Amino acid sequence: MVRILITAMSVLLFASSTVADPESDRKAFVNYFNKRFPNVATESYVNGIYALDKDAYEQWLDIEEFPPYEIAIEEGEQLFNTRFANGKGYADCFDKGGLGIRQNYPYFDSARKQVVTLELAINECREKHGEKPLGYKKGAIASLSAYMASTSRGNIFNITIPDKPALAAYEEGKQYFYSKRGQLNFSCADCHVSNASMQIRADKLSAALGHPTHFPVYRSKWGEMGTLHRRFDGCNKQVRANPQPAQGEAYRNLEYFLTYMSNGLEVNGPGARK
Ligand code: HEC
Repeated sequence: MVRILITAMSVLLFASSTVADPESDRKAFVNYFNKRFPNVATESYVNGIYALDKDAYEQWLDIEEFPPYEIAIEEGEQLFNTRFANGKGYADCFDKGGLGIRQNYPYFDSARKQVVTLELAINECREKHGEKPLGYKKGAIASLSAYMASTSRGNIFNITIPDKPALAAYEEGKQYFYSKRGQLNFSCADCHVSNASMQIRADKLSAALGHPTHFPVYRSKWGEMGTLHRRFDGCNKQVRANPQPAQGEAYRNLEYFLTYMSNGLEVNGPGARK
């Protein structure tokens, strides 16, 4: 924590805008990083910290030669193609049979007035067909999500905000991102915007731009796969803040905001991280 430099100005700049205009928010977000790291191409932010740390990037390329998430993709494919007890399957619940659609998540369901993430949709599919829901942070759901992401690699995120309730969900996610919390009183933006590329304990901080594109990830620290909401929990714990329930409204809205910020970037999940 000691070596961290808080450049509070930039956070204020984003957080204080009162008129809700997601597209201006997104442009300001991207421009901030482009200005701060002029040698980093916008597309590279899908690689997390490896976009900003050259040495770590080389090591990561070695890891990617025998990707530790490969087993999860295979397991996910098998699960995806296994029929439910009623004879239906995941393919029956999704557009295009569920393949090549990762970039459309999360989306705002206007009828139900809520953000639907891929993991939520997977469990809703199961429940619709009489199966028990899966745990949201790891295991089978991460494998299914990994497989579905792998069939969508290279597709471009284009999250839309169709109506006023959607805008409200976006605003809540944005608020969550910029609000300070926990005993250490840090916001997501303090670490992943103002202090991106800075060293914090054993880690260098990634930019929030591109954060959702490569999830789920295999993390060496976990020794297994985990979902984006599992990662949110880890970050909240780091600042000693109360984690929110995975797939609860707060994290879904946060994911909606974060993914909107990454519009125009490509799906490159699943990923491998330290
Ligand atoms: C005290 C600093 C700190 C705060 C506050 C923090 N994080 Fe993190 N976060 C980290 C560190 C350290 C890592 C691991 C290195 C990296 O990839 O940035 C990380 C990693 C991540 C990753 C994975 C990045 C990847 O490429 O896989 C995501 C996503 C993330 N954080 C989101 C958030 C969100 C959302 C919040 C707010 C709820 C948040 N973080 C708050 C320190 C923080």
